[in-house]
Amino acid sequence: MTTVVPRSDFARDILHVYAIITWATVGIALVVGITLAWALMRFRDRPGAPPPVQTRGHTALEIAWTIAPALVLLVIALPTIQVIFRTQAAPGPGALEITVLGRQWWWEFRYPTLDVVTANELHVPAGRPVALRLDGPDVIHSFWVPQLGGKRDVVPGRRNRLTFTAEIPGEYRGQCAEFCGTSHANMGMRVIVDASDAFERWVAAQKAVPGESAGLAAEGKAIFTRSACVGCHTIRGVSTGALGPDLTTFGSRRTLAAGMLPNTVDVVTAWLKNPPALKPGAKMPPLGLTDDQARAVATYLTSLK
Ligand code: CUA
Repeated sequence: MTTVVPRSDFARDILHVYAIITWATVGIALVVGITLAWALMRFRDRPGAPPPVQTRGHTALEIAWTIAPALVLLVIALPTIQVIFRTQAAPGPGALEITVLGRQWWWEFRYPTLDVVTANELHVPAGRPVALRLDGPDVIHSFWVPQLGGKRDVVPGRRNRLTFTAEIPGEYRGQCAEFCGTSHANMGMRVIVDASDAFERWVAAQKAVPGESAGLAAEGKAIFTRSACVGCHTIRGVSTGALGPDLTTFGSRRTLAAGMLPNTVDVVTAWLKNPPALKPGAKMPPLGLTDDQARAVATYLTSLK
């Protein structure tokens, strides 16, 4: 994660502001340092020398050191305010709308115009503006993907906006940047910037109805549908819970638990046995599944692509 290799218009704007502030502070440091060095040399104590002339009250000097910092603040404030307004502006008509919900302790991403819902791995097309609406049902979080821009707070009920255009396909890590409880540090995310055809393929795959399960996966599906799972999780055509992540295409995600763990059958099995043991504070309780049951459900879930 770095802020100095920008991969979106927003991130580049922020780096530009950083650069202005950095060079301004370098200039100030030089002026102060050189003046200090000069004063130390010029007025150092010499044996037998009289004390230097004392200055008390100097109107011109006082006006100067009031105006100079005001000018510095102006130089920093103008571009900062410009960037804030530009990235908060209403998105253009071609922008892809995405609702981002910060939750304890994971991210939900909804694409209202595409009828797609996913979690923790946000796919966006390269070269097209995306207009994020930030909201959440519980506490304040902060959306931050350093190479794409941010941070912007996710305040329940406020619907903050964030618009950017990702430029280069790739995978970019993000992190909740506002302390939000026990697993704040584990509230990561990935943004996958796809070339536009790859994005279309991803959308099509997300909308596909999961096929029939067979073998161990079918066993896992049967356990899933008769367990508490269905109360919290949606799998299209199977269940409609809304407290936890939508699992319709769970197997297409590379990570589990908001980017914390690799999404493999072994890890998902351990997760199903006892989520809070892997992620402190996780709201999903241990379900009391046997090892075999947990493995069957994990096989089913990871088969959903
Ligand atoms: Cu969510 Cu910190």
